[in-house]
Amino acid sequence: MISPSILSADFACLGEEIRAIDAAGADMIHIDVMDGHFVPNLTFGPPVIEMLRPHTKKPFDVHLMIAPVDPFISAFAKAGADILTVHPEAGPHVHRTLQAIRAAGMRPGVALNPGTPAAIVEPLLDNVDLILVMSVNPGFGGQSFIESQLRKVEQLRHMIDQTGRDIILEIDGGLNTETAPRAIAAGVTAIVAGSAVFKGGPSAYGDNIRALRPSVHV
Ligand code: DX5
Ligand code: ZN
Repeated sequence: MISPSILSADFACLGEEIRAIDAAGADMIHIDVMDGHFVPNLTFGPPVIEMLRPHTKKPFDVHLMIAPVDPFISAFAKAGADILTVHPEAGPHVHRTLQAIRAAGMRPGVALNPGTPAAIVEPLLDNVDLILVMSVNPGFGGQSFIESQLRKVEQLRHMIDQTGRDIILEIDGGLNTETAPRAIAAGVTAIVAGSAVFKGGPSAYGDNIRALRPSVHV
């Protein structure tokens, strides 16, 4: 699956941008929520997501880079998030947070910063539908892929296979036509891409998304 990150879209016309990546073949829409505290950047929150919801039927893959998370879970559910992914460092009780996300009717995800080990996921495997490996330090689009994260992907692939559960393994940060095939070979099933999808404007989105898919490389 390809989940374009709208962090690289034109914020002055987000509705149009979402319709364009939907038409271009996006499988999900990756929405980066930042609070200027958990990460050194600010983006948008539930009111913007709610306004975007009518523009596509594709799942909203919402990546929270905020602390705390718990007071906002119901607002993201109401706004139309399908997957809600949180960082374990964002609060003292990540297990409880993942349960609350499920109880609110969304699919819970856990995100691992480059410095966070794969092992943190082990006790959470029953509670997540998605594991997000950050291959850059979160906060900004357009950064370089951190190679060491491929080893973490392999470790997580093995952990997921042992559960027998259908958990999405997603990677986020610095994905392009050179790094995406290597991430897929290491075991990811979903690729987040911001700058690699939105470069060249709407007429290029279709080709940009196709270029990231595994079928292009085999
Ligand atoms: C970074 C965000 C990413 C970002 C990826 O904090 O989580 O989703 O938009 O951007 P690229 O693909 O340009 O590295
Ligand atoms: Zn993200």
